[in-house]
Amino acid sequence: MAYSIGFWNRIAPRYARQPVADQAAYEEKLAITRSYLRPEMQVLEFACGTGSTALLHAPLVARYRATDLSPKMIEIAEAKRAQTALDNLTFEAAPLQQLDIEPQSLDAVLGMSILHLLDDRDAAIRQVYDMLKPGGLFFSSTACIADFMPWFRLIAPLGSFLRLIPRVSIFSQLALENSLTAAGFTIEQRFKPESASASVFLVARKPD
Ligand SMILES: C[S@@+](CC[C@H](N)C(=O)[O-])C[C@H]1O[C@@H](n2cnc3c(N)ncnc32)[C@H](O)[C@@H]1O
Repeated sequence: MAYSIGFWNRIAPRYARQPVADQAAYEEKLAITRSYLRPEMQVLEFACGTGSTALLHAPLVARYRATDLSPKMIEIAEAKRAQTALDNLTFEAAPLQQLDIEPQSLDAVLGMSILHLLDDRDAAIRQVYDMLKPGGLFFSSTACIADFMPWFRLIAPLGSFLRLIPRVSIFSQLALENSLTAAGFTIEQRFKPESASASVFLVARKPD
């Protein structure tokens, strides 16, 4: 299995410095997520990047495990965590596909800006489904590129070959929702900012 680990390690310092593209949309996603979080919850965030979201949500739950493929991203995240008093938050470098999580052990999983970067989103969604307890929640924010830039599939392979962009999968919101429902999830909430190219934020629940 090929991962874009070199790409993400290389851009990690720049990624950490970049401002959030749409602050209002980011805050809305945080607020929606927070409305579901409870103090007793066990949470996993995969592909956590430099940990900004994890640092904001961790104080609201019992345990927050944040992971990312890139050791450089995790190094930056861990440096930020070290400046806080959070002892229920851990950062760990590992690809989602290699995480060893007990089935039905988590209350919530977050995957922000990641499903369109995976070779096999269906496998990832099934993996998340298996980790969740009945009634558990999957929060995701995904660029559904087929809905606003379908031609990108023609140039994306060249861009990733030249290491200008990571590997990307081009699919629509409908295809993403179909993947979630095929795995067994029900879509509980959708949030899509007005801009056509904005990522789609979904709250999906594993039935009780
Ligand atoms: C676009 S960034 C998003 C980071 C963060 N979630 C955010 O919203 O700012 C994508 C992240 O996914 C990570 N990543 C890529 N493939 C991954 C995989 N297979 N497993 C875990 N993390 C992965 C990258 O290292 C990178 O940090």
